[in-house]
Amino acid sequence: MSLTFLPPPLQQINSEIARHAGVELYVLRLDLMHPWVNGNKWFKLKYNLLEAKEKNFTTLLTFGGAYSNHIYATAAAGNIFGFRTIGVIRGEERLPLNPTLNFAVQQGMQLVYLNREMYRQRNTPALEEYLQQRFGEVFIIPEGGSNLNGVRGCTEIIADAMRTAGYAFDHICVACGTATTLAGIALSLHDGQRAIAFPVLKNGAFLAQEIESLLTNYLASDLPSPYTSPASWELICDYHFGGYAKVNDELLLFSQQFREEHGVPLDYVYTAKMFYGVMDLLKQGFFYKGDSLLLLHTGGLQGNIGMEESLQRFSQI
Ligand SMILES: Cc1ncc(COP(=O)(O)O)c(C=O)c1O
Repeated sequence: MSLTFLPPPLQQINSEIARHAGVELYVLRLDLMHPWVNGNKWFKLKYNLLEAKEKNFTTLLTFGGAYSNHIYATAAAGNIFGFRTIGVIRGEERLPLNPTLNFAVQQGMQLVYLNREMYRQRNTPALEEYLQQRFGEVFIIPEGGSNLNGVRGCTEIIADAMRTAGYAFDHICVACGTATTLAGIALSLHDGQRAIAFPVLKNGAFLAQEIESLLTNYLASDLPSPYTSPASWELICDYHFGGYAKVNDELLLFSQQFREEHGVPLDYVYTAKMFYGVMDLLKQGFFYKGDSLLLLHTGGLQGNIGMEESLQRFSQI
């Protein structure tokens, strides 16, 4: 199973801040791979779709918030690969649908809404049973594609970038929600390389435990792993900007300037926060002279449309 992809370009960032720090800065533009199923989404979905096909499921069911990149990508991937899709959305239905959910419906996804209390039970056997009873045999993909299939796909993200660059980067930086992507990256690095994750949620330190358990469970499974022990990884929790999907003028201005200077659009929920964090750490001398950094552009740009609409509404009040 494969999508027709553009190979993700590796783009060097010629920034005065990086030059001053003596650091080489590259971005892996996963956002450019495919118009709809891009970023880390394809990697988290790929082995889930394969397992669903192998087991002869015809329907995928997954979970997400109303602006979820994962819902958007699953709807499109399901349509491309001939699955029926059901999106279980957190909270109440709001009409008209926002651009994310509107796109999902256009791709053929059936939307179902769960109140927040029920939604919290999304990973419990009781809710799974309820959903199976309501919708029949469905292949369930957890929120954000966060399972071992998702980790497996993410072990494949940077191999090409290393081949294109002709050398291994010292640090791989990634925005972090469920930490599935980080876990896959950590499993695919050589000794001496380090994965650095920037949680976009407030108090993201709890993710350390999540990462440990994803890595332990992955290595205990029979899924293939490039290396038998994960590379070192680190969480940097200071760049959440108030929490998930929270932004301020400084972040918006940074995104705008970064796009103007380097031609790289950033999404406000994930990549803008990580890029801001990296540039700030460069100014603080966090990295050594001679270090090379690879920043993963994990996509998510579809979410900017909805976010910009609500920011505009907010500024008109
Ligand atoms: C654009 C984008 N970047 C980064 C992430 C974080 O990935 P993960 O949940 O694997 O930590 C997500 C969430 O899936 C995302 O949508």
